[in-house]
Amino acid sequence: MILESKSILVNNNQTSYLESGDVDKLPLIFVHGFPFNKLMWENQLLELKSDYRCIAYDVRGHGNSEAGEVDFSVALFAEDLIAFMDALQIEKAVIIGLSMGGYIAMNAIEKHSNRFAGLVLCDTQCAADTAEGKEKRKKTIGFIERHGLEVYAEESLTNLFASASFETKQHAVSFIHNTILNTPASTVCRTLQALADRKEACSLLPQINFPVLILVGAEDKITSPEAARKMQGLIGSELVIIDEAGHLSNLENSTQFNFHLKEFLKRKIKPLR
Ligand code: MLT
Repeated sequence: MILESKSILVNNNQTSYLESGDVDKLPLIFVHGFPFNKLMWENQLLELKSDYRCIAYDVRGHGNSEAGEVDFSVALFAEDLIAFMDALQIEKAVIIGLSMGGYIAMNAIEKHSNRFAGLVLCDTQCAADTAEGKEKRKKTIGFIERHGLEVYAEESLTNLFASASFETKQHAVSFIHNTILNTPASTVCRTLQALADRKEACSLLPQINFPVLILVGAEDKITSPEAARKMQGLIGSELVIIDEAGHLSNLENSTQFNFHLKEFLKRKIKPLR
């Protein structure tokens, strides 16, 4: 880790975050996927720091953030995001959410759309889990409770990365493998339940009145380019397919990811006065 991590109290939990760039610049808040943490955004925090205030935090229970006692839900994570912004005295930010991070951002739109200066949805979807998806998560919870995270972590990798990444992005693969293994099993199980119970967000998308960019890895097996096109149709936003990437497009092809993110921010988001 190059950036030093900081911590702030959010809804009674110490919440860990990384920050780069000038506090007077437009804030970008990066929300990680599951079961990862703020470190997955380090490249973007370093690449965008000259023009923006860049922040990546750990969703409760993940990374170095406290978990608290209450049941996890995507709505609770969304309230944490807004409370985190309050704690840092950020009125509006561009929220950049990958997968679960996108679920959290889309959930926050319902009550807090005035807190968004823009939104970047990466490798995510607006649909809720299907009945089979919920059943699969339930079985995974039971499996992890009995056997721990090793097999789960190993099997997850296959779906997370584009096939070529196992040869060409070995550093990213082992980073994510270790990230999963270092996440507390209780957090993984509590979050799996929260993801299974989450509401759909597709019906909220047409009401969005701030700029949106959708990014998706061409080989995303978890939240496919089709799911991204569906969101694009509902929002009328831009969509870019990232080559040579699966579900973790910011890690697998950071060059293309950062290029499109910077272009979008430059073209569509007004800088702070
Ligand atoms: C993620 O990367 O956040 C997960 O794949 C989301 C999910 O399991 O639905």
